[in-house]
Amino acid sequence: MKKVITYGTFDLLHIGHINILKRAREMGDYLIVALSTDSFNKTKKKKAYYSYDDRKIILESVRYVDQVIPEKTWKQKIKDIQTYDIDLLVMGDDWKGVFDFLKPYCDVIYLPRTRHISTSKIKDDLYEGWQQ
Ligand code: CTP
Repeated sequence: MKKVITYGTFDLLHIGHINILKRAREMGDYLIVALSTDSFNKTKKKKAYYSYDDRKIILESVRYVDQVIPEKTWKQKIKDIQTYDIDLLVMGDDWKGVFDFLKPYCDVIYLPRTRHISTSKIKDDLYEGWQQ
């Protein structure tokens, strides 16, 4: 069984998230999402609209996601790869090169981001009174 892992906050789930989860799952047989906790997000100066618990429930409801684990620190990746017997780490290409140091432990692939959408864009658009 080929196991895939990806990392992220996945707040206000949108089509870019679904696209990467679908593609990541199609590259293996089992997809684990390491979901940034609220306290880890704080260290990244990021604040999710939905709590960790809600984001976890939402992600677990996505058919491409087999398991959600907490991402609590930048440093946990090697341990995750070993603990969960991961074959492949998938990230969007906004992270290109950043996780190449994990290549001795598993394959690392960066997939192209879906264009014109992000959680930040949704927040900005709504804040600015977006209308159809
Ligand atoms: N992602 C993607 N396409 C997008 C947005 C995100 O492929 N349009 C991918 C990211 O590359 C990452 C994963 O989805 O691998 C989770 O990204 P996350 O940072 O949670 O989502 P963003 O929408 O980028 O959130 P933000 O605007 O807060 O950075």
